[in-house]
Amino acid sequence: MIFEQIATGGCRPYLIGCADTCAAALIDPELSQMDRYLALASHHGVRIHYLIDTHTHADHFSATGELARRLQAQVVMHQLSTEPFVDMRVDDGESLKLGKLRIDVLYTPGHTRDSMCLRVENRLFTGDTLLIGVIGRTYLPSVDAADLYDILLNRRRLLDETVEVYPAPEYKNRDHSTLAQEFAQSPRLQKRDRQAFVDMMHNLSLSMPTHLTEALRTNLSGAKTIAQLLSEAASTVSFMTIDELKARVDAQDRELVILDVREKDAYASGHVPGARHLPRGQLELKVDEALPDPTLRILTICEFGRVSTLAAATLRQIGFRRAIALDAGMKAWREAGYPLTTD
Ligand SMILES: [Fe+2]
Repeated sequence: MIFEQIATGGCRPYLIGCADTCAAALIDPELSQMDRYLALASHHGVRIHYLIDTHTHADHFSATGELARRLQAQVVMHQLSTEPFVDMRVDDGESLKLGKLRIDVLYTPGHTRDSMCLRVENRLFTGDTLLIGVIGRTYLPSVDAADLYDILLNRRRLLDETVEVYPAPEYKNRDHSTLAQEFAQSPRLQKRDRQAFVDMMHNLSLSMPTHLTEALRTNLSGAKTIAQLLSEAASTVSFMTIDELKARVDAQDRELVILDVREKDAYASGHVPGARHLPRGQLELKVDEALPDPTLRILTICEFGRVSTLAAATLRQIGFRRAIALDAGMKAWREAGYPLTTD
């Protein structure tokens, strides 16, 4: 069996594959590591057939939708998941064939309604249901800590406790545990009374994950994250450093049109000498009036370098083929002590 644990900050996506048939699956892939998954699949000489999310993630951005578009692989989730881009919905007691391997599905609601664990040989991919030394929180609406109790403590006799536990998140760089270790040592699994367990879970004071709203919005819709939009825009334009711009301002480069796309007040409070003003929000509506010559070399500037990247990408899309963005923003320009004007 081909097996890769792909550490990504606190996330632990997994590549598993059948060495005989070269069929593979990715479990809980995260968006920032797309090239890594593809490189690992190439390295092992496998084709990814299934992209599996163990549940609707609220703490990171799932890559299943994007990878499915690139690989023509099937997105697999539990039958209660509401994501519209899921190709195959599965349920407890079913298996996916992966060459000579079997991926067994165990329905394990509690962390979310659509949580499942996946067993492949002696490995159990537990998603956020069972982590090393801790169990998944139950912070989302419509989930019930009692479900988690029933799964983890009432049904434990159904599981072989020598099975190895591979969770979706792991923050202390341990690669796995076993069910036996977790039942013996995990503090939250020592509450053997159902109501005591539910009370404990309800009284945990856990902070919400960062990006919760964006993660749920994009994971549930299959739509792009803001980082993806920025990355896609950045891949379509070229950039100029602030030092290069400073040199061109000093040399009074007449060819370069410096276009400040911040709001009016920000522009008025200080801008690069010679910069013209056209806020990002009015770009498409006023660009023909402001910049009638599409062959101009236009450099966009904003405060941090993100909005200017989007603006330059938009300009390229509508025919300004020489539009570029500053590889930073006015904040960096000011911090470098470079000249400002309010003219
Ligand atoms: Fe989760």
